[in-house]
Amino acid sequence: MKNLRAIHLPPDELPQRWYNIQPDLPAPLPPPLGDAQIQSLPNLMIGECLKQEFSNERWIDIPYEIQQLFLQAGRPRPLFRALNLEKALGTSARMYYKSEFFSPTGSHKVNTALAQCFYAVEQGFNRLTTETGAGQWGTALAYATSLVGLKCTVYWVRAVYNWKKDRRNLMELYGAEVFASPSDKTQAGLELYSKNPNHNGSLAIAISEGLEDSSRDPKAAYALGSVLNHVLMHQTIIGLETQKQFEIVDDYPDIVIACLGGGSNFGGFAIPFIGDALTKGKKTRFIAAQSQSAPNLQGKYAYDFADHAEKTPQLKMYTLGHQTDFPPIRGDGLRYHGCSPIISLLRNHGYIDTVAYPIDEKHVFESARKFMQAEGFIPAPESSYAVTCAIDEALKCKETGEEKVIAFNISGHGFLDIEGYRDVIGLK
Ligand SMILES: Cc1ncc(COP(=O)(O)O)c(C=O)c1O
Repeated sequence: MKNLRAIHLPPDELPQRWYNIQPDLPAPLPPPLGDAQIQSLPNLMIGECLKQEFSNERWIDIPYEIQQLFLQAGRPRPLFRALNLEKALGTSARMYYKSEFFSPTGSHKVNTALAQCFYAVEQGFNRLTTETGAGQWGTALAYATSLVGLKCTVYWVRAVYNWKKDRRNLMELYGAEVFASPSDKTQAGLELYSKNPNHNGSLAIAISEGLEDSSRDPKAAYALGSVLNHVLMHQTIIGLETQKQFEIVDDYPDIVIACLGGGSNFGGFAIPFIGDALTKGKKTRFIAAQSQSAPNLQGKYAYDFADHAEKTPQLKMYTLGHQTDFPPIRGDGLRYHGCSPIISLLRNHGYIDTVAYPIDEKHVFESARKFMQAEGFIPAPESSYAVTCAIDEALKCKETGEEKVIAFNISGHGFLDIEGYRDVIGLK
């Protein structure tokens, strides 16, 4: 084992295939339900993404052009050993974190945005519509559409739209049009907006709006930023790089941690390691860090819609109910009713643990501050949940003296979220 502080991969080590875990799952994924909704999918979604959604091929080639876009977006991204944090905590654990915060727009969401945009152009679409919660996915899609020459329309959960003006302007600088959701632009939005123009919104409502908008325009497709199988597969680039980086230092994680809203960064980081657990007998523990606002992994494992207006097929997933209201939080990207079908199936088979932190978010933001003062990087509010879980696990090791290897993914940076830090931990 080597004590490297920063573990870099050279550009020619960028993974050239995504890992599709479907053939290695402990049971087949339950199929989506709803004839009408399933029949509408080819008109709403990007064809290649839909094909990948149901693929049983274990490895899917990343087209050369997407590899080039990944390189331009700064991949491969470093894995860091948190030597300062380990010292500050006095832990016997070895802590490693992956740096998705080096993304041009601030998060891992760029990985699937670039792939989806490439396929959308190939198919001749000229516009993509979408939802966003934290604003990270909306910004990633605004960026990726601008690179490939597509238009972009974003429906943004109002509770967050209202306080993240800089992120809204960033999307607009990339050329996107951005609406607070629920909006008066769609029937699904108008029904809620007309009753309450200050409605906080939810990801489920914003998805309904994006879908309705795209269904009205034959040149538009809907791009989803999480939950679906192909999105998680695009994100496996994170975990595949991380596996190579662990080989360089001759180490291997005992615990893998990421925050979880719909499941894309958790899946992207953990799935390659879960593949090792399923096919090579590795004994790793996987922990999804969530908020008590919407701890979807503690919900029911049942069929439910992915959106509020019931435009999507029903997916078998852990869910809290697609029309439930959840209290807004600063890490609002974690406020979603359902978890990706792949992660849900794995949880149902006992592969995924979960922890949910209190809605006041004090412990989460204080842990992020501790991380920042030791390691220098400011995590996005959502990513701070993963940081908190990693620190909590490292402190358990301190008590027991165990030398566990803890790997966590920092899915985004918090440069545009400082107001959230200010409010929660009381900065002036
Ligand atoms: C930085 C960041 N991390 C994590 C998430 C949660 O989403 P997912 O579970 O799809 O990774 C979000 C969602 O907006 C986010 O912005």
